[in-house]
Amino acid sequence: MKRISAFVVLASAILIAITGCRNNPPGNFWGRQEPDSLYTGKKYTIQRPFKFPPITNKYADSLTYEGVELGRRLFYDKHLSKDGEKSCASCHLIQYAFSDSGVAKSANETGLTKRNAPALQNLLWAKQLFWDGKITGLDATAKDASHNELAIVSDITISYLKSDSVYTVLFKKAFGRPGDINEEEIDKALEQFIMTMISCNSKYDRVQRGEEHYTASEERGFHIFSSDTGGCFRCHHSGGGSSLLLTDNLFKNNGLDSVNTVYQFADSGRGGVIHVLSDYGKFKVPSLRNVAVSSPYMHDGRFKSLQQVINFYSDSTRISPSVDPLILFLFRSKKSHHLTAREKGDLLNFLYTLTDSTFLNNTALSSPFK
Ligand code: HEC
Ligand code: HEC
Repeated sequence: MKRISAFVVLASAILIAITGCRNNPPGNFWGRQEPDSLYTGKKYTIQRPFKFPPITNKYADSLTYEGVELGRRLFYDKHLSKDGEKSCASCHLIQYAFSDSGVAKSANETGLTKRNAPALQNLLWAKQLFWDGKITGLDATAKDASHNELAIVSDITISYLKSDSVYTVLFKKAFGRPGDINEEEIDKALEQFIMTMISCNSKYDRVQRGEEHYTASEERGFHIFSSDTGGCFRCHHSGGGSSLLLTDNLFKNNGLDSVNTVYQFADSGRGGVIHVLSDYGKFKVPSLRNVAVSSPYMHDGRFKSLQQVINFYSDSTRISPSVDPLILFLFRSKKSHHLTAREKGDLLNFLYTLTDSTFLNNTALSSPFK
C-alpha cells in the first residue's frame, strides 16, 4: 500500500515537472488545446450610461458578442419550452419593456403564474430578482424561469440545441471550448443577453443630460415626484447621487392591503423568503422606467392604469403591520398631502417621460427569428 502511494506521488511529481502545470483541465492531459477550443467570441463591453451607478457585477466583464447573441436566440426560441409554444418572450415582450401584454398573471404550462410578469430592464444593477427577491444572480433567475415559467425539459432542449448548427457554433464561441452544451451555459447565455437590456434614453434621461427640457406640466410633475408632495422619490430612486434606476432595489410594503396580522396577506412576499415577520407583505420596489407601457401594475397586477395607481397613493393606501412608515407619513397623516386633480395630472405627465422608445424599439434586443 505504502509503495503504491509513494509511486503515485513520484509519478505526479514527474508529470508536473513535464507539463509545468498543476491545473490542467480534465481531459486535457498534456495541457494541449483541442482545435475546437480556439473558437472564442469577441469581447462585448457594456458602457455605463451617464449618471448610472457603477457596474459591480463581476460577470459583466466576461460578455462576448456571441454569448449575447446566443442568449438572445434562446430567449426568443419556442423550441425550449415543453409544449414548443412558448419562449421567454411570450411573457416578456420588448414593446412592453419585456413585461407581459396587459395581463395580471401570465399563462404557462401549469396554469397562471403566481404574480405579474415584471419589466426586464437594467437588471445588471439588481442584486435580488423576482418580486420577493428569492433569487440572487441573473443566471439563477434564468434557470428558475426556464423550469417554472417555461417548463423546459433539459434533455429535450439540449438535444435540440446540439442538432442545430447555428447554436453549436455560438455555444463554442461563447464559452471558448469544445461545445458541450449544458444547462449552466444556457443560463449563462440568457444572463448575458438580459444584461444588455439597458434602458437609458427616455426623455427623463435626456433632460438629465441637458439635451431636452420638460414641458411646464412635466416639470411640476417632476417636483411632485421628487419632493414630499408625492414622496415617490423616497422609494423609486436609487439614492447615492444616482437616481436613474428609479428604484432603490429594496423590499417595502406600499400600503396595498389592510390586514390585522401578517399571516393574512394573500401573498407573503419577502417574508415568505426570509421568514421575518416584519417582511411579510413587502415586495421589491419596481423601477418606474417605461411604466406607461408595462401595465397592469403591482406584484399581482391589480391596477390597470397609472391613473389608478396615482389615485391609490393619493387617496387609498391601507394600514397593516408591515406598512412602510413613509406611507403613513406621506399619505395618511395629513389630509393636505392628498394630491389635487391638477397635481395628479402633472405627476402622470412626468411618468410618461420615463418611456424610452429607443429601448422598446432596439433591434439588438428584438427577436432574431424574423
Ligand atoms: C409564463 C410567463 C413567463 C415566462 C415564459 C417567463 N417568465 Fe420571467 N417572469 C414571469 C413572472 C410572472 C415573473 C415574476 C415572478 C415572481 O416574482 O414571483 C418573472 C420574473 C422574471 C425575472 C426577474 C425580474 C425582476 O425584476 O426581478 C427575470 C430576469 C425573468 N423573469 C427572466 C425570464 C427568462 C430568461 C425566461 C425564459 C427562460 C422567462 N423569464 C420566462 C413570467 C414569465
Ligand atoms: C414607501 C415606498 C414607496 C413610495 C413612497 C412609493 N412607492 Fe410606488 N411602489 C413601491 C412598492 C414596494 C411597489 C411594489 C408593490 C407591490 O407590488 O406589492 C410600488 C409600485 C409602484 C408602481 C407599479 C409599478 C409596476 O411595475 O407594477 C407604480 C406605477 C408606482 N409604485 C408609482 C409610485 C408613485 C407615482 C409614487 C408617488 C406618488 C410612489 N410609487 C411612491 C414603493 C413605494
